[in-house]
Amino acid sequence: MSVVLKKTVPSAAIRLVVTDAVGWPALAKGLDAATRTWLQTLGFKAAEHTHAIVPNGSGGIALVFVGVGRADHPFALSSLPLSLPEGEYTVDAQSVPPEQAASSWLLGAYEFTRYRPVRRAAASLVLAQSESAQRGIDLARTLCQVRDWVNTPAEHMGPADLAAAAQAVAKAHGARFKQVVGDDLQKAGFPAVHAVGRASTRPPCLIELNWGLAKHPRLALVGKGVCFDTGGLDIKSAEGMRQMKKDMGGAANVLGLASLIMARKLPVRLQVLIPAVENSVAGNAYRPGDVIKTRNGTHIEIGNTDAEGRVILCDALSYAVEGKPALIIDMATLTGAARVALGPQVAALFTRNTAMARELQDLGIAMEDPMWHMPLWRPYKGGIESAIADLVNTGQGPQGGAINAALFLDHFIPAGQEWLHLDMHASNEKPRAGRPVGGEAQTVRTLLAYLQARFGA
Ligand code: BES
Ligand code: MN
Ligand code: ZN
Repeated sequence: MSVVLKKTVPSAAIRLVVTDAVGWPALAKGLDAATRTWLQTLGFKAAEHTHAIVPNGSGGIALVFVGVGRADHPFALSSLPLSLPEGEYTVDAQSVPPEQAASSWLLGAYEFTRYRPVRRAAASLVLAQSESAQRGIDLARTLCQVRDWVNTPAEHMGPADLAAAAQAVAKAHGARFKQVVGDDLQKAGFPAVHAVGRASTRPPCLIELNWGLAKHPRLALVGKGVCFDTGGLDIKSAEGMRQMKKDMGGAANVLGLASLIMARKLPVRLQVLIPAVENSVAGNAYRPGDVIKTRNGTHIEIGNTDAEGRVILCDALSYAVEGKPALIIDMATLTGAARVALGPQVAALFTRNTAMARELQDLGIAMEDPMWHMPLWRPYKGGIESAIADLVNTGQGPQGGAINAALFLDHFIPAGQEWLHLDMHASNEKPRAGRPVGGEAQTVRTLLAYLQARFGA
């Protein structure tokens, strides 16, 4: 384990001296001349995510200076575990809060190791035992779990594997797990999930977790669980398909958020819903032009089988609505258009509640886990009107694709029902400190903080 909690931190642990660039000159002034000259030689200026090792007189390390943007930054120490030499390091709680120290370190030590061993062992951070440090460890472990789920190839992360992951989460926190699988989806009232998933040799399913006491407000989390998105009969290009193992990223993030809600015993009655399918090509695949009667009776026309996420989500959202929750949050890698609008790092947030959107936007920026409010612009609803059914699952042109998708989902949310929709990327395309290329937990930290503030005891 690269973060170790001990009753007392051994004196041999190498001390990390943390500073931002503004505080650095004053700190440097107080150092002895040799050390100051050494750091000048290295050109160390305490820029964010840089460090400078100071040797001792016997060939070892005396201490390490570490530049941070701010000490409680969620990725404050993330560049260290895989760049410092192996060994034990420590940082005092006054300079970096133990929660951020532990979580930023673990996030920076992350590697996806299912198919090959670690490239190098991470350096260890030793901290004094504290609730704060433990909270940081639990947070980071969950976020790394989300990364693992997203990174796992479709061959090993089909609908049944996703269900097994959800079942493990349920077991860890004492939640009730159930699922409806394959043709039973039709009887149980999830025809749209069935239609999208039926062409795969691996049957679709509707995964459900329930947790918490009846007296607490209900919170429903819905995640898009498309384990692989070929596009269906409207098949994607090779380039467009290449990353589509991550199309269950919404489901992975929902499971991560649910884990944290349960671990922190938030006083909510939690319901997690994941429609899990593989959008495949076969003779029995759903077709462009088909009309599906969905759970709530809405008839939807299929304009494009590649707009499958909104199709499976509408049944799951209708089911969530039946429980009359205080809040529904859905998370989905729903449209390429959301990426065109905001890039991969910023999730698109849709909600009818503008005040809540503003609050989440500010919180997300402060937590380095951003989401940005996009409009549910009603006039565009005309773009998803069908000639023969209630709705069509594609807009009329390439413009406003994320809004079209959100308006489609909006149709299944009755007036007065509070709802957040997050259209996200769930992966890093370029590496940043603590965020290697590949699967990523997105908006989980921000939403957890929001939910704790809103529902917390
Ligand atoms: N899973 C994709 C969206 C996606 C693509 C997310 C790339 C992240 C990265 C989704 O199912 C999809 O294919 N959407 C189409 C919708 C279109 C056919 C209306 C899209 O965005 O092109
Ligand atoms: Mn698709
Ligand atoms: Zn998709």
